[in-house]
Amino acid sequence: MGWNSWNRFGADIDERLIRETAETMVATGMRDAGYRYVVIDDAWQAPARDANGELVPDPVRFPSGMRALADHVHGQGLRFGLYTDAGTRTCQGRPGSLGDEIRDARRFAEWGVDYVKVDWCHTEGLSAPPTYEKWCLAFQRADRPMVLSICEWGRSRPWEWAREVGHLWRTTGDIQDRWSSVLGILDRQVDLHRYAGPDGWNDPDMLEVGNGGMTEAEYRSHFSLWAMLAAPLMAGNDVRRMSDATRAILMAPEVIAIDQDPSGRQGRRISRDEGGEVWARELDDADARAVLLFARGDGPARLGVSWSELGWPAGARVAVRDVWRRQDLGAFVAGFETTVAPHAVAFLRVVR
Ligand code: GLA
Repeated sequence: MGWNSWNRFGADIDERLIRETAETMVATGMRDAGYRYVVIDDAWQAPARDANGELVPDPVRFPSGMRALADHVHGQGLRFGLYTDAGTRTCQGRPGSLGDEIRDARRFAEWGVDYVKVDWCHTEGLSAPPTYEKWCLAFQRADRPMVLSICEWGRSRPWEWAREVGHLWRTTGDIQDRWSSVLGILDRQVDLHRYAGPDGWNDPDMLEVGNGGMTEAEYRSHFSLWAMLAAPLMAGNDVRRMSDATRAILMAPEVIAIDQDPSGRQGRRISRDEGGEVWARELDDADARAVLLFARGDGPARLGVSWSELGWPAGARVAVRDVWRRQDLGAFVAGFETTVAPHAVAFLRVVR
């Protein structure tokens, strides 16, 4: 969990934004809710490497340098992340790391970087598995534990090889701050549950919660779905100017607990019809499940789950709790059913 500059700020970033974001993450309770990494995405670099061939931060936007910024972020009890690109240039045209993996990993380690996102623009002719393998070795050589966030957009089925190499891997192209994008990404996660688990995560991309392009219900659904997918939760909004509604979504404790369930098992879609979908996720507590009733379509949907669909006897008496409202709904035999508003969810933790 953490925050990344890209979704809200794009290339319009500077050290003040990063410092203020880190401070706000502490002040608002985001850090204590679990958001740990502050990651600067593309465009932190100067347009060219220095005379020694080293990456350097843009001197206008990051005049104090990355070591000082990393120290500030660490001083807030947070971890510090940076972005680079596996190819010749980043997606924003800054210097890429191709051929400089060892040098750049060493430099990141010297700066105190804890997390590196390695993007895939300008990689013509490269194959992703050996390229990211090189990064894995470069991190080992740099002798500092750093999370490797693989960002080749799901092009070469990273779920099949990336667990050996990195810690999370994007499964799709970039998320956009609109409902159709959330649905499009969701549909591409459907068969990937078997690949996720502790230390290796499918990454359906960073959160758009709070960026303004969706309704509150849609953002709540987006966040709930990501929790069912055991997705990395990287906030992508301006945390310095969050509405109460955005805060309540990003910091919903029982939703975060499902996302972060120690079993690391990813949820799966167990049924669907025109009105909506039902997703279920096994949890560390073998007698509990997370269940998401998701009204995906444009009308209200009557959605339900039967205990037998969860692998439990139909006659089981099961306690149902609404994790958004943080309210026990009672004990139910056979199953549970409710009406869900369009684009909204009922998010349940059920215990037998
Ligand atoms: C690619 C990545 C995004 C972001 C941008 C930055 O599109 O997929 O997440 O890092 O590059 O340029």
